[in-house]
Amino acid sequence: MINHRLPLLSIFVGLVFFASFHAEATASLRSSIVPGAIWPDDRGHHIQAHGGGILKLDDTYYWFGEDRGGERGGKKAIERKVACYASKDLMNWEFRRQVIRTGPPESGLGVPFVLERPKVFHNARTGKFVMYVHLDDKAYKLARVGVYVSDTVDGDYTFVRSFRPLNEESRDIGQFVDDDGSAYLIFEARPTNGFFIARLSDDYLDVAEKVCFVRTRLEGGALVKYDGLYYMIGSWMSGWAPNNNQYATAKTLAGPWSDFQDIAPPETKTYGSQSTLMLKVVGTKKTSVIFMGDIWSPADHQDGRYLWMPLEIGKGRLWLPEPREWSIDVKTGETRVVTPK
Ligand code: GAL
Repeated sequence: MINHRLPLLSIFVGLVFFASFHAEATASLRSSIVPGAIWPDDRGHHIQAHGGGILKLDDTYYWFGEDRGGERGGKKAIERKVACYASKDLMNWEFRRQVIRTGPPESGLGVPFVLERPKVFHNARTGKFVMYVHLDDKAYKLARVGVYVSDTVDGDYTFVRSFRPLNEESRDIGQFVDDDGSAYLIFEARPTNGFFIARLSDDYLDVAEKVCFVRTRLEGGALVKYDGLYYMIGSWMSGWAPNNNQYATAKTLAGPWSDFQDIAPPETKTYGSQSTLMLKVVGTKKTSVIFMGDIWSPADHQDGRYLWMPLEIGKGRLWLPEPREWSIDVKTGETRVVTPK
């Protein structure tokens, strides 16, 4: 006799399986960003992309940053790691891989050494992905940039060389690509009491020329062009401790730059964070600019958090609103504060 219940039973079991898989997949999808919270990647691990940079290719965003995994209880890393994550919506990040995992890339650096604030540029002419990092000895005396190159966005990146851009000391670095595709490195040069904006060479492997020297003792420099005006942000120099980050504006990158002003109520010390990047999201309805800051955790680096928040920007004013849970539609460019229930 044919058992008519069997097909029905297997359909039922199949449906239950499908429903539970679906529920799991949907549950792991994030529909908001909570500034300062643990931010799990697709594996459920807190994202390790401190002092990071973003590169957009087609409809995918790549987030590169210092992978501080294992740095806890003040333990210093012998190897330095740069991790790469990918996302299509800026809220859900898939871990791609550690694109750099290395000891000192050249002699004289010693161990532990410093490899911080990685920023990746894509060179359309050569097709190469070029990463700049702050490369230093543990006393931060070497003050150079390190250049790494890869044929693919998610590595491996191989070391090319290190140098002092424009023959100046270089510590915190920032990246900027203008609307015309020109790529710039921002770097802080302590003895000069200011920082530089420098255009990269055609192959991006060198710094071609000084565009501007801004005489203000800021680091963590970041730039964005919004509505025809350049906005620059940076932090004072207080190491891992937060301070009241600043901004200025200019009609051209070469300046003159306006006076610097607070980006948030000064007593909040930028809500405990330090500037890293400003990300412009150009959508069909709106252009949003996202402040990307680090909330460092020097005693437990792997627990460092990210403060990402849409900026109020326009007509020469830039303001970081009080951090709240928010979401973004990268297609329209619209952002929305999620009102807590
Ligand atoms: C900060 C800098 C960080 C790191 C730190 C070390 O000022 O922005 O990237 O270098 O100092 O103390």
